[in-house]
Formats: sequence, C-alpha cells, structure tokens
Amino acid sequence: MPLLGITASRIAELLASPSPGVPAYRWLAEGLQLLIADGRIPSGYALPSERRLTESLAVSRTTVTKAYSVLGEAGFLTARQGSGHLATLPAGSRHLGVGGALLPDGEVAEDFLDLTCAASRAPAGTAEAYAAAVAKLPRYLAGTGYATGGLPELRELIAARYAERGLPTTPDQIMVVSGALAGVSLAVRALTRPGQPVLVETPSYPNAIDAVRRSGARLIPLPVEPTGWDPELTTATIETTKPAAAVMILDFHNPTGSLMPDAQRASLATALRRAGTVAIIDETMLEVRLDDPPTPLPLAAYLSRCILVGSSSKSHWGGLRTGWLRVPRALLPRLLQARIADDLGAPFLEQLVLTEMLSHSAALHPERRDELRAARKVMTDRLPEAIPGASWVVPAGGLSLWVGLPAARASQLAIAAQKVGLLISPGPQFAATHGLERFIRLPYKDPAPAIVEAMSRLGRAWRSQQELPSSTRGQRPRSVVA
Ligand SMILES: Cc1ncc(COP(=O)(O)O)c(C=O)c1O
Repeated sequence: MPLLGITASRIAELLASPSPGVPAYRWLAEGLQLLIADGRIPSGYALPSERRLTESLAVSRTTVTKAYSVLGEAGFLTARQGSGHLATLPAGSRHLGVGGALLPDGEVAEDFLDLTCAASRAPAGTAEAYAAAVAKLPRYLAGTGYATGGLPELRELIAARYAERGLPTTPDQIMVVSGALAGVSLAVRALTRPGQPVLVETPSYPNAIDAVRRSGARLIPLPVEPTGWDPELTTATIETTKPAAAVMILDFHNPTGSLMPDAQRASLATALRRAGTVAIIDETMLEVRLDDPPTPLPLAAYLSRCILVGSSSKSHWGGLRTGWLRVPRALLPRLLQARIADDLGAPFLEQLVLTEMLSHSAALHPERRDELRAARKVMTDRLPEAIPGASWVVPAGGLSLWVGLPAARASQLAIAAQKVGLLISPGPQFAATHGLERFIRLPYKDPAPAIVEAMSRLGRAWRSQQELPSSTRGQRPRSVVA
C-alpha cells in the first residue's frame, strides 16, 4: 500500500511563525508536535525528507535533523527503514475524536471545568414538558409512528414562527430532523454532488465543516473576522468559485458571535443568486439573544433557493435532539427523498415535548438569558487579568466569546489548560482548512462562580505555557461538540 504523507509545503503552511528568541529547531519540533497531537498530521503519515523540509522552510539541515530527533525522543516520530519518518502518537495517548463529549463520564476528572461545549443545561419546566408529552402520547399510538416530515402540530408552530419573523411559511415546508447538525448534513448531501465546491465559513462550527467534508465536497473557505464578514470578499469569493452550496451561520455565528445585518444579507443573496448557489443557513443560535440588536430578516426572505436550519438545542435543550429545515417548495422532493434514506423521521415523544415548549415560547427562557448575560460579564471582567492583551468583540447573542490571543499559541494553551483542570477549544478546531492559532473559544454557559474559577485556571495556563515548552506527550485538546 502506498504510504500516505504530508508534503513539506503543506507543513510550511500549517506551522505558526517562529517566535523571536526561540531556537529554530525548537520552534519546528514544537510546531510539528502540535500538528501531530492535534491530528492535523495524522498518526501513520510520512513526514517529508529532511532535505525537502529544509528547502521548504528555508532553514538549515541541522535544524530539521535536530527537530526530528527531539520529536523522536518525545514519541511523536518513528524512523522506518526505507520509508523515512512516520508521525506517531506516544504510547498511552487518548484519541478524543469528534464526539469526545460522548465518551463515558470517567474520561474527564470531576474537578475539570469543561469549556469545550457551548450548550446549556435544560431550562426550568423541561421535566414538566416531558410529562405533558407523555400524557398526550396515547392518542398517537394507534398510528404507525412514521411521519417523515414531522408531527403536523409541531410543523404548524414552527411555520408560524417564520411568519412572525417576516417570512410567510406553510407547515408542509417544514421538515423536522434530529437536530440542526443532522439537518445541515442532510441538506448538503441532498443538494450537492461529491467533488462540487461548497462554501463554508472559517472559523465555523466544526461538526458542520466535517459534515460538508464528509459529503465529498470541495471546501471553499470564507474567512469571518471577529467583527463579522467582509462583504467585498464574500461577493468576490462567491463570484469566483460559484459554489454549489454555501453553509453559513448568520445569526450569532459560532464561534465569533457575529450577526449579519440586513444590508449585507441582501448583497449576499444577490451574489448567491447570480452564482446559482443554494444557501444552507444554520440558525441554531438565533434565539440566544442576550442584548437587543436589530432583528434582521431570515436570508430566505431575500433568496428563494435558501434552506433555513433551526434547532431547539440552544433555545431549549440539546437533549431533545430536535431541529428542523425550512425548505423552498421547489427543493422539497429532493430533501424528502434524501431524508427517507437517512431515518424516516424524528421520534414522536421529543416532537411532542418541543410542541409543548414552543406553545409557551420560542424564545430563550428569561432566567437563562439573565444568567448568560451575567456569566458573559464575569468572563469579560476577568479575561484581561487571565490573558493580558487578549481581545474580543462582545457578542449580542450566542454562547461564547471568540478571544484573540496576543500570540499564536492556542493549541499550546489548550494543552497547558488541560494540565490545570480546564478544557478549552483552540482556534484551529474551528478552521475550515488550517490556521486560527491566534484564537480560542470560551463559552460563558456556566454559573458565574465556575467562570471565575475557569478564568483563574486560564490565567495559570497562559502563564505556564509562556514558560514552556513542556512536553505535550499524550495530550491533545478535547473535541468540540456544541
Ligand atoms: C452553529 C451550530 N449548528 C449546529 C449545532 C448543533 O445543533 P444540534 O444540537 O441541533 O444538532 C450547534 C451546536 O453547538 C451549533 O453551534
């Protein structure tokens, strides 16, 4: 079997710039170690020859030899007769792939603070909604239990919510699915063919990027800054690449928290229409409004070939595993056909629970909103002390801060944080292709005292990683789930 390998030029792209005062071999060894530990150079991949890497990085041969030797001693590289050097993980490493949060409880010590998941506990009234749903269940038991598009009463409530937002919608345009991620994945598979270009934001919600990648699409990354989208770049990217689909988060974008204003939505829609691109807009964070910014229209009000993806995971609870698609009528047959191959429909009980919840309110529970605002304030008050020089834009909604670091050391910081009992997500986990080592995402979904403790541990981790480099043997940042 031919050996899989990573090219020297790709390594040059992935490595962060050298830090002043750090010897070149150490910069290279640490950089490669992070890439291997982070899975961006997968274990078992061949590394380029010393000569190739020397040329590509414009460093001396001794630098590369020494870096490879340091990596070998740390267990991140093995020399193979005839096949050069292979990336490896030291014995005892844990593989926390996507879905790390689904690992058994014992995987993370109890006193760890986990800031890798931007999701909240269930709001007050959830158990009561389940009880009410169970009470209603008997009237459905005489049927087959298959309702591919979803329960009619739930679809009606969801359609009415779009009408309230200025987008007339009929219940037959709503398809209930098992969460927004399942919805994004279904839409991408139904509407694109492997090999076609699909635009994704970078940074973006990692599991959606992964879903697009797994569909076989060619990823077209569109940068999103902490301040939001650059309209000219957005239009130019769409015009040049003519993507088959564009998967975007316009409402409290995860992770930046940006909210795309109406004027930008109008010009985005124009560019997408001209390019013949179908938009798949993930509105998962829509109801997590913490301040009172203007409420832009849904993109589908500007663009007919637009699928809106909704979810109850952030407005209500992730455990419902219930989301939905709002589909333009012309695309419904393709979506339904693709969906049948998936799962034939969502579970009844959870749909009844959501019906119960939505009939009270589609919005975030007011108590939850207050808690999140308070937690966001505690976090922004403490961050300057934890990481002097850190920067951020306070989002008007969503569940996390996208924090700019004064140095490109996010993966290193995540590993150092793990050592002091704090799990955080480094920027590269949100990148469509590579980079973002200058950012971390910090969700403020925990009560204020936990955030105070988390910021204190973050400060310790930041200071310790500056004195580094200690060995990152056997450790890697935990995957993002929400
Ligand atoms: C933008 C975005 N899309 C989708 C999801 C997953 O949503 P669901 O739980 O409905 O599958 C998340 C979860 O954090 C998210 O932030």
